Order: sequence, then structure tokens, then C-alpha cells
Amino acid sequence: SRWSNVIGTGGYLPATIRTNDDISATVDTSDSWIYERTGIKSRRIAGPDETSSSMAEIAARQALDMAGIDANEIDLIVVATGTPDRVYPSTACLLQERLGIKHCVAFDVQAACSGSVFALSIADQYIKTGFCRTVLVVGSEVCSRIVDWTDRGTCILFGDGAGAVLLAASDQPGILSTHIHSDGGYEDLLYCPNPQVAAAAKQDEPGYISMRGNEVFKVAVNTLGRIVDETLEANDLRQSDIDWLVPHQANTRIIAATAKKLGMDMDQVILTLETQGNTSSASCLLAFNEGVRDGRIKKGQMVLMEAFGAGFTWGSALIKY
Ligand code: ACO
Repeated sequence: SRWSNVIGTGGYLPATIRTNDDISATVDTSDSWIYERTGIKSRRIAGPDETSSSMAEIAARQALDMAGIDANEIDLIVVATGTPDRVYPSTACLLQERLGIKHCVAFDVQAACSGSVFALSIADQYIKTGFCRTVLVVGSEVCSRIVDWTDRGTCILFGDGAGAVLLAASDQPGILSTHIHSDGGYEDLLYCPNPQVAAAAKQDEPGYISMRGNEVFKVAVNTLGRIVDETLEANDLRQSDIDWLVPHQANTRIIAATAKKLGMDMDQVILTLETQGNTSSASCLLAFNEGVRDGRIKKGQMVLMEAFGAGFTWGSALIKY
């Protein structure tokens, strides 16, 4: 049979660091409150000239270098982002041009914080069916530009960055399964308006993330527990077969609950939250890249990636690296 193998990974974080103390200087919060409730100490903020496509390019080039292939070998680019440079062209098309690729398919996926897992799932289907051989998957976000920096309930959480994975068709096992789900019944708990469209429709809404954090938290913990069961059952695996958990980085307490469900110690979890915050659709791919590049995730090991986000959307990918 035909599988998708990971042949390269990449990541990019903007240079500017915004600490909890920096945020405490302008809104009523504190480093200890933020760290205890979320696990976050600082996050990166994109510079004025940086965009989702510019950060995606850097992450993508790293993945290409690791794989040792030319950009023109890519058949398909899938970019997950909630903060596209433009409504259109898609960020994937802008990335295609930046990479100098003339002939490939490129499109964006919008699944909020689950975007990376949705994009991986799409890429895997296109490879398995034989439609594509080499697929670039990128999650890239400038969350800092859709965050209300006066709302202490959300501004403490998010950060900017880009992660990339390059997949290639192989007769050896790679991505073993992906599982993705959506339930559109939770718009009120977590949403971000499109300010231009809202203004034209005379809806008086600022273009910022709005979240009822505590309610999102509870649904996230329960849902991620179920996706872990679904993934293990589909592959006839036990908890102990998983070497690494690569979770979406929203909150340490949510991640710890998922690790516990898997009977895993926190040292089997790739955590980037402390210095990156929640980078939405970039977070799983950034964490995966970090684990691969620092040598923790080794060839042949079993990686469970999972994410939860607005929609609600949620999903997992089981990857034999
Ligand atoms: N500093 C100090 N106090 C705060 C802050 C802050 N930054 N934020 C909220 N508070 C206060 C609240 O006003 C509230 O005060 P009150 O009791 O006087 O009303 C109190 O702290 C408790 O507020 P909660 O919202 O209940 O706090 P909670 O423990 O739930 O933590 C948090 C909030 C960190 C946002 C948490 O709920 C969370 O992480 N939620 C999940 C987020 C998530 O996973 N989102 C999904 C992915 S994001 C995406 O898809 C775009």
C-alpha cells in the first residue's frame, strides 16, 4: 500500500518576545496568574513586515533543506491559517510564488487551532489516493493581529509563528491514520469576526478573538480524551505503544489531562507553550519540528498529534516517524 512519510520539518518564530510582565504593564493580570492557569511565560510577536506567508516561507525552506529536495518537486501546498495575508489569493498561493513553484496545487484550510491536523489529514488523503507524491503542509499565524490587547481573557494566550512538514509517498508506513471532526454548534464560545464583512453588514463587531475560556476548556478536555481513544482503537494500539504526544499548545492543564489519559509522563510530551503561547494552526507543527530537530523524536517512533479549536474542530494524526 501507499503511505505518507515525513521527509522534512521546519519552524519559524519571530524575534520579538512579549513576556507576561510586558502584558501585565498594560492589562490587569500578573505573571504568576498567567503561568499557573496556562503554563505560558512568553510568546513571540511578528514584526511589522512579517506575515503568515513570509513566516511560512522560512519554515517551508527549512523542511525542504532537511528533505534535500527542490521546491519544484512539490505537487500540493496546504496552508492552515486563521490569519491569512489576504482574503485571496490564499496564503498557500502566496507561498507557492515565494518558493518559486510554477506548477502545483495550492490552497488554504480554515479549522482554527485544529488547522495543522486538518491539513495533515487532507495531505495524507491526496497522497494515499495517488493524486500527489509530495505535499507541503504549513501552519502559519499572526495571532497577535486578531487579539484584543485590552482583553486579559485572551491576550495572554496567543503568539505568532509558522511550522511546516513535508510529506512524500512511500511503500513504508508513515502517517498511520488521521481523525478529524467538526461541530458548528459552538460559535458563541469561540469566534473571530471578519471585520470588513461585519462592517459592511452593519454588525458592530471589532475584528478580535472572542472566547468564553472556561467553557471552551471543559469541552476541549473531554473531546481530546475521546479523540485519543478513537485513534488508539482505530489502530488497535495500547497507550504504551505511543512514544510521543505532540499536542496543540493551548493550555498546560488541557495537555496534562490528555497525557494522563494516555498514561504518559510529561517528559513524553513535546511542550512549546511556555515560550510560544498558543500559535493556533502552527502549534502542533512547531512542536513536532522542535522534537524532531532536538533528537527527541527518533525514526520509527510513534507520535500522536492532537488539536482542538474554534468551530469546534478537533482531530488527531498518528505518525510513525
Ligand atoms: N489575569 C487575571 N485574572 C484573569 C485573567 C487574567 N489574564 N483572565 C481572567 N481572569 C479572571 C476572570 O475575570 C475570573 O474572575 P472572576 O472569578 O472574578 O470573574 C477568573 O480569573 C477566572 O476566570 P476563568 O475564565 O474561569 O479562568 P480559567 O481558569 O478558566 O482560565 C483560561 C482562563 C486560561 C483562558 C482557560 O479557560 C483556558 O485556557 N481555556 C481554554 C482555551 C482554549 O483551549 N482555546 C481553544 C483553542 S483557541 C482557538 O481555537 C483559536
